[in-house]
Amino acid sequence: MIFAPQGYVCQLLHHLFNYRVLGLESNPSITATANRRQYTLHPLSRPSVQYSCLKVTKDSSDAIEKLLKSFTNNENEKFCLIGLHSCGDLSTNALRLFRDMKNARLLVMMSCCYHKLECAEDKPGFKNFPMARGLEREYERIRDPQGEVLGRTFMRLACQEPAERWEGMGEEEHETHSICLMARAVLELFCRKNQINLTKTKRKSVRSSKCLNFETYLQNFVSRYNFNGKELDEKYYAEINQLWGENESKLKLAEVYTGLQLLLQAPAEYLVLNDRKCWLEEQGFPETKIVSVLNRKLSPRSHAIVSSKTHPIIT
Ligand SMILES: C[S@@+](CC[C@H](N)C(=O)[O-])C[C@H]1O[C@@H](n2cnc3c(N)ncnc32)[C@H](O)[C@@H]1O
Repeated sequence: MIFAPQGYVCQLLHHLFNYRVLGLESNPSITATANRRQYTLHPLSRPSVQYSCLKVTKDSSDAIEKLLKSFTNNENEKFCLIGLHSCGDLSTNALRLFRDMKNARLLVMMSCCYHKLECAEDKPGFKNFPMARGLEREYERIRDPQGEVLGRTFMRLACQEPAERWEGMGEEEHETHSICLMARAVLELFCRKNQINLTKTKRKSVRSSKCLNFETYLQNFVSRYNFNGKELDEKYYAEINQLWGENESKLKLAEVYTGLQLLLQAPAEYLVLNDRKCWLEEQGFPETKIVSVLNRKLSPRSHAIVSSKTHPIIT
């Protein structure tokens, strides 16, 4: 069973290994796209690969069992739970489902968007972090009433791009990167000063090819964002350019700051992943490993938590 599929991995697993695959996704339009794609490109796979729209929570075991039963006609069929870039609480809920569902024998969970974890209602911090008793005890000792030490900023750091992305970058690329970062920061400052709520009008933000100087960045940015429905007039442009003038000298510093972020990213992410691994071990699954499954340069989130109820994991 695959959480949050767009269809590619499901189809591939069926094509390569003849597995039956049930894909569960909470967004109806993504589910419809996966179904359409299958209908057009892989019509013969339809009895073996199915996509259902379901918002998976920690309490979804009954709903999933029902779907599995109608899919396989066998309520005792053993299965593997897979998540590829399962964001926020989807990953942690999947871990709980793996524990609770007796026929779930193997778990392969690649998480992402740690910063989207839900806040706890009864304590500072998150519902599902820390999960492991050891880290929870340490966290309590820190006494962090506002939930700031291991809070959302920490989680954002954990899902930054990894340091490997900087390997082989030349001076010019660093310059472009620093312009991109500083220009975005200046626009954020401008919006906060003027109480403007930015919303994207295009899926992607400004491309690095538009970061050669502030002027081209700004032009491109304005075409991709809505500034509270406001047209930026001359006065606003003058203010933006003044802010840029005041901060331009910090371009090198911006790169040093990014370097520091990159250095902290891996330890932050390993803390999150190890918390989940330790939790699984505490729940009685000693055969749990963190496995590097993808090239970090291609996929910033490249580690999967793999846990087996039956076989040793060989990596
Ligand atoms: C980061 S995308 C990953 C999509 C795809 N697996 C990939 O790797 O490109 C996360 C997906 O998880 C889905 N999702 C988030 N929470 C979910 C939940 N509780 N149950 C089911 N799907 C969920 C979102 O709708 C989104 O499509």
